Amino acid sequence: MRLDKFLGEKNIGSRKQIKEYVKNGRATINGVVAKSCDIHIDENKDEIAFDGEILTYSEYSYFMLNKPGGVVSSTREGKTTTVVDLLKKEGIKNLFPVGRLDKDTVGLLLLTNNGLLAHNLLSPKKHVDKEYEVHLLHDITDSELEILERGVDIGDGDKTLPAKAFRAESRDGHQVIHLIIHEGRFHQVKRMLESVGNEVVFLKRLSMGTLQLDPELSEGEYRELTDEEINCLLDNKLSKKQ
Ligand code: URA
Repeated sequence: MRLDKFLGEKNIGSRKQIKEYVKNGRATINGVVAKSCDIHIDENKDEIAFDGEILTYSEYSYFMLNKPGGVVSSTREGKTTTVVDLLKKEGIKNLFPVGRLDKDTVGLLLLTNNGLLAHNLLSPKKHVDKEYEVHLLHDITDSELEILERGVDIGDGDKTLPAKAFRAESRDGHQVIHLIIHEGRFHQVKRMLESVGNEVVFLKRLSMGTLQLDPELSEGEYRELTDEEINCLLDNKLSKKQ
């Protein structure tokens, strides 16, 4: 790969800026100042640094977004803002959300351009755990929580798989439960609660497999995944034992 392409992928600057930066001696290859930006490097072996900071090469990008309400989880949607629009300034091609959250759902959403990882995470066979914080319109009984855990008919064939449901602190006068499910059926959480005569007034995803929503991220904020988080996903350590 050419040095300028590599630096561009690391979002160092525009093509023109990169040319200037390299001319000013700010990029090094294996500790030696790069003389021109059309030089070819081996991105997997050479150590490239910019202003002394080593840049690691990754073919793919991974971001965690705390999805805000009112934004759709698709790549393009007429005039409505999409989750991909929120990351536009990163300038990364082919970024897409791994799975969907409803427009009014907030919380953890992974965005990547690694299609294979997305496929693995979404495969119904993998039963990746997803934990949601669910605020309820009506009070819920212990026996209704047990019914949710055993599996309910949400009107599209098979009952939902066994889940975990437990109480959390009430918020704004609404009872709150956490629900851990292993599938990703359409409007699954809302339909599960409907099946026990309740209604979801606020829904937030807290985790997906081993990936936890960073509590430092406010709604609408995002960050790159750490190497550890990426490795956990790639190693397929997707399901937390219950
Ligand atoms: N279940 C729902 O009902 N909605 C979501 O956005 C996610 C899970």
